[in-house]
Amino acid sequence: MADLVLVLNGPNLNLLGTREPEVYGKTTLDDIANMLVTQGDNLGIEVDLRQSNHEGHLIDWLHEAAGRRALAVILNAGAYTHTSIALRDAIKSIPVPVIEVHLSNPAARESFRHVSHVSPVAAGVIQGFGAAGYALALDAAARMRQERG
Ligand code: DQA
Repeated sequence: MADLVLVLNGPNLNLLGTREPEVYGKTTLDDIANMLVTQGDNLGIEVDLRQSNHEGHLIDWLHEAAGRRALAVILNAGAYTHTSIALRDAIKSIPVPVIEVHLSNPAARESFRHVSHVSPVAAGVIQGFGAAGYALALDAAARMRQERG
């Protein structure tokens, strides 16, 4: 059975492609899902990409990732990154490594984006590479699997 990676996306990321394209690019979330499924096929990884505008859904899906013994979670929590202690607690509560992804580089933007409640409990962070960041994160998940043996 293929390893599972959940790719969880938070608020407003359903609008990718039309939302501030000068910041987030023109690639849609469907484009990203298709790219990752193809990449996952090559890596023997089942990719399940989801998006919600609701904090609790993201938390439930993190718990689900643990229940299903996922290889990793790739998480772009959107603005919840900067506000949600509940999300941080959920990540801390599960043994599944969480790879934090941002299309933009929040460190180079407004100061309220400089705080991430996710980073201190993430396995690693990839930010500033646009949609390619998701591909890099999936590659990182595959490399973590290889290192664990
Ligand atoms: C984002 C960065 C966040 O600051 C912002 O609130 C988002 C998108 C990114 O992918 O660059 O919604 O997570």
